[in-house]
Amino acid sequence: MPAIKEIAEQHGLAMVEDATESLGALCRGQPLGRWSRLTCFSFNANKLMTTGGGGMLVTDDPLLARRARYLTTQAKDDPLEFVHQEIGYNYRLTSVQAALGTAQLERLPAFLAAKRRIATRYAEALEGLPGIQPMKEAPWATASYWMYTILVDAERCGTDSRSLLKALAASNIETRPLWQPLHLSPAHRDSFARSCPVATRVNRLALSVPCSTSLTEEEQSRVIRALQRELVADRRNAEMQPATGDFGTA
Ligand SMILES: Cc1ncc(COP(=O)(O)O)c(C=O)c1O
Repeated sequence: MPAIKEIAEQHGLAMVEDATESLGALCRGQPLGRWSRLTCFSFNANKLMTTGGGGMLVTDDPLLARRARYLTTQAKDDPLEFVHQEIGYNYRLTSVQAALGTAQLERLPAFLAAKRRIATRYAEALEGLPGIQPMKEAPWATASYWMYTILVDAERCGTDSRSLLKALAASNIETRPLWQPLHLSPAHRDSFARSCPVATRVNRLALSVPCSTSLTEEEQSRVIRALQRELVADRRNAEMQPATGDFGTA
């Protein structure tokens, strides 16, 4: 974040953050959402806290806040006659969703603690499995652990992330790849793109394992046992050496 902020400042660019995945996380001690003029958060159903759908825009700039409220509530210049000077949108969170969100916000510390407990257990259990890189917290970060994602090095595991996904699915354990990087998305085929080898590699190797805040200890044990079973079966004769590396820099 400091590096992006520096570039934005150098070139007079406005920085807008999507901190959806890092609600509650810190970068160099500063909460995500505090780095930019505008930050958005999604409260979709699978997020750390949810309102069932919708999201939130935060800013400490009163003019931007007023402008966002205006555009997201249909840009009504005359609320009686419904006169619009410009095109507005019906993007606001409903009051019912906002009430849900307020209650969820109170539970955020407990959600974050549950995610951290689950992540710590995975990290301990998966460390040392050949070719598996557990998720690590960078020294400059406090992670939210919204998801717990491992990297599967096919050469050292004897299986790749997608085969492992299928093997775990056969044991009724749902795991997921990460999202397709934008530069590979057919929907953006006509856009300017440069090669992004790190994103491409992470997309190929990554597998997110179950980590819902409601995951019980026994359920997590079952996931860990299944992972150990699959990997040991695929690489019975492999030399046991821990994976190295991390998930990037700030
Ligand atoms: C960074 C980020 N932004 C936005 C979203 C989704 O936002 P929404 O579904 O509310 O449009 C996601 C979904 O996972 C996400 O990871």
